[in-house]
Amino acid sequence: MKVLVIHGPNLNLLGRRETDIYGTKSLDDINNEILSLASDLGIDVRILQLNSEGEIIDAIQKGAYDALIINPAAYTHTSIAIRDALVAVGKPSIEVHLSNIYRREEFRRRSFIADVAVGQISGFGPDSYLLALRAAKNILSK
Ligand code: DQA
Repeated sequence: MKVLVIHGPNLNLLGRRETDIYGTKSLDDINNEILSLASDLGIDVRILQLNSEGEIIDAIQKGAYDALIINPAAYTHTSIAIRDALVAVGKPSIEVHLSNIYRREEFRRRSFIADVAVGQISGFGPDSYLLALRAAKNILSK
């Protein structure tokens, strides 16, 4: 069971970036939590952080995974190209956000990804990724 986790743009700055919204854990801290849960669940997880839209699309297209967990960050609200890549590849994907995007600025309420994902998890901080990993396990076990 292979799960790819993609962290989108600016998430490499977690722990230093808008800590009131995103918390004080670094991306490494979050990745360690993901790796630890993946090992408990018996999931082979690979994690990428990519700042550019093209690199995210390349990683989605490579398709070396059974399910995808993606926090597209700001591209959530702008990228028809990432949406199209998800549809083209057709693997189950789960959209993740640390913050609750529906409690923030109006422009964050629109996601180009949500309706092509199996589901969206938003607002639980780093736990959003852990919930997504459990969801991926359930989806792939069916
Ligand atoms: C985010 C929410 C996005 O609106 C924002 O652009 C991000 C992070 C989140 O995880 O809460 O960079 O995806």
